[in-house]
Amino acid sequence: MEYTYQPEEYAKQLAEYYELEKLSFSPEDGREHIIAKLEERSVKKRVIADTANTMIREYIETFEKDPEAVTAEDAEKLDSFIRAMQTGQGLNSRCPDPAIMLRAQRIRKDYYEKNGDLEETVGCINNCNHYYLQLFAMHSSTFSGTPYREEALSLKDRFTELSAYRRAQFMTVVARMTAVQMRGFDSGDFSMDRVWEACSLQEELAEADRAFPPAGDPDPRAEASGVPPYYADMLLQNCEIQAVNTFCDYCVHEKDRGRIPDIGSMRPKISHILDRLRSDVENGRNLVGIPIHMELLLAMADLHLGNITKEEFFEKCDQFRHDALALDPRLQLIILSDVDNTYLTYLYKYSGLEPEKINSLCRARLDESLPRLLQTAKLANDIHFNAIPMKYVTCASYISRFSDFAGTVLDLSVYSDKALFIHTAMVREMSRAIFDHLIDEDPGFFTGVAGRDAEYIRDHKEEMRALLDDCCMYHDLGKFWMTDITDNSMRRLTDEEFSLIKEHPLRFDDVYARTDRSDERFMCIRDCALTHHLWHDGTRGYPAVPQTKNRPFADIIAIADGMDAATDFLGRPYNSGKNVDQLTEEFRAGSGTRYGPEAVAALSDRKVRDRLDYLINEGRKEIYYRIYAFNELPDII
Ligand SMILES: [Fe+2]
Ligand SMILES: [Fe+2]
Repeated sequence: MEYTYQPEEYAKQLAEYYELEKLSFSPEDGREHIIAKLEERSVKKRVIADTANTMIREYIETFEKDPEAVTAEDAEKLDSFIRAMQTGQGLNSRCPDPAIMLRAQRIRKDYYEKNGDLEETVGCINNCNHYYLQLFAMHSSTFSGTPYREEALSLKDRFTELSAYRRAQFMTVVARMTAVQMRGFDSGDFSMDRVWEACSLQEELAEADRAFPPAGDPDPRAEASGVPPYYADMLLQNCEIQAVNTFCDYCVHEKDRGRIPDIGSMRPKISHILDRLRSDVENGRNLVGIPIHMELLLAMADLHLGNITKEEFFEKCDQFRHDALALDPRLQLIILSDVDNTYLTYLYKYSGLEPEKINSLCRARLDESLPRLLQTAKLANDIHFNAIPMKYVTCASYISRFSDFAGTVLDLSVYSDKALFIHTAMVREMSRAIFDHLIDEDPGFFTGVAGRDAEYIRDHKEEMRALLDDCCMYHDLGKFWMTDITDNSMRRLTDEEFSLIKEHPLRFDDVYARTDRSDERFMCIRDCALTHHLWHDGTRGYPAVPQTKNRPFADIIAIADGMDAATDFLGRPYNSGKNVDQLTEEFRAGSGTRYGPEAVAALSDRKVRDRLDYLINEGRKEIYYRIYAFNELPDII
């Protein structure tokens, strides 16, 4: 196989791309300079995208189409391709592009499996599993397990044939067998038995592993990979920590569904694990993480088992918070977000306090933590830092009135992902252009939106417009959980990434599950988030849910959304380069099926078209400038 680029090129391009993404400015830089730099960046991104897509075609798609064509040399090349991407070591290693690495690693796995190479096959299973978890366990709220679990289990009898390095990799797969997300418990494929099974298997393997002397491994990568002599113990501890975590999540999940988990039957197993973890802590053998994390986890398990009272539990949380404040700012935030998240979640679910009291405690905690968070998020300017603001969004959602925390969510999101925030702002501006025409020409079109009748709508145009503004600002809120996927514009998205992105409209409901559903304003915002990718006639798009009375707003947002994506020349390397007239033709072609006919008809109005034309070019520059220079959204463009 002839390759256009060396295997290391992909990692190099990706690193350059991330550098470009970090671009930041201050107001002193001036509008001209900022726009010029953003335009320059867009051109560079396009070049990077061409290289990346060429590499994906040659290194991956060729072999996906024709697995028989892989030679030993190709498999080696793919190995270099993947290695160049890996940062960090062992369980903490992260890969900036798991979707592509997963595809590359699968090709290698199939090749070595076919050739009966056990050592390499185990290595590939571990890597596939690693990327699979990074992709799905992190981004899908319905995740309930990895397909590589079965593959590893089928090879467990051959564990002792493996070199030390591969044994460590094999145990890594087992250590991660229990990964599951909250909604994953609903699918029926997960049971707590899997957790106990993974722990006892890990114990068995750790014992078998200890029987081998670590020195003299024929594989030089064992040393290079930094596998420490206590690796088996570390994995066992990691497996047990995950088991406890899953146990706590399971208890919380059952509580959410109004069920009482069958703790009695689990008690011996979980107690055995807890005893061992506790003795590890007492003997200073915390091999995996940060002591406060471990203590927090033990306290959660103790609460579920009835070993401590809820009062004792909340006291402990206060103590952990106090201890966390002594850490350095970045670490402090990582710990604090977990402690706060647990405290507020458990307060909501287990304290038995009045909702008003929970609201005020929740608000007090957020008031303490958020200024710190915003400051650090601003300094970090890092997309992988996103998980922390998202934890606080979840915390904020425990406040039952949407209006009480809506602003907080937006403040957090501007630092989490500028590209998404800018998109949101563009959708708001474009939607306003369409709305202003429709509300004057055909106010009856909006009848039913937010439960309002025709008369109210005619007399309250401003209120309706303000509501649409909010619908736009929150329409893609679910994407904040997957910005490291949505921002992968340096290449075409993979099918697996698309399937994850399709979950974003549903995420809104996950976050606001506790919000008062009788609030019509809130429900309108929610319906727009839920249905903006659903076709107007409901036949296609996602998710497949019934249309709502708020469809007129969703119709407007669907058009604004498509128009921004197709014309963003400052942020995305891919845009259609089409103007408003050309896009209008496309919307007309889908009128009545994909798009709402009234919203499409508004595009025939000259004034609407002129406004959109302005927004696509000069207006867009203004929004980019304001958000890059000031981190805030101007009210009127
Ligand atoms: Fe969306
Ligand atoms: Fe969108």
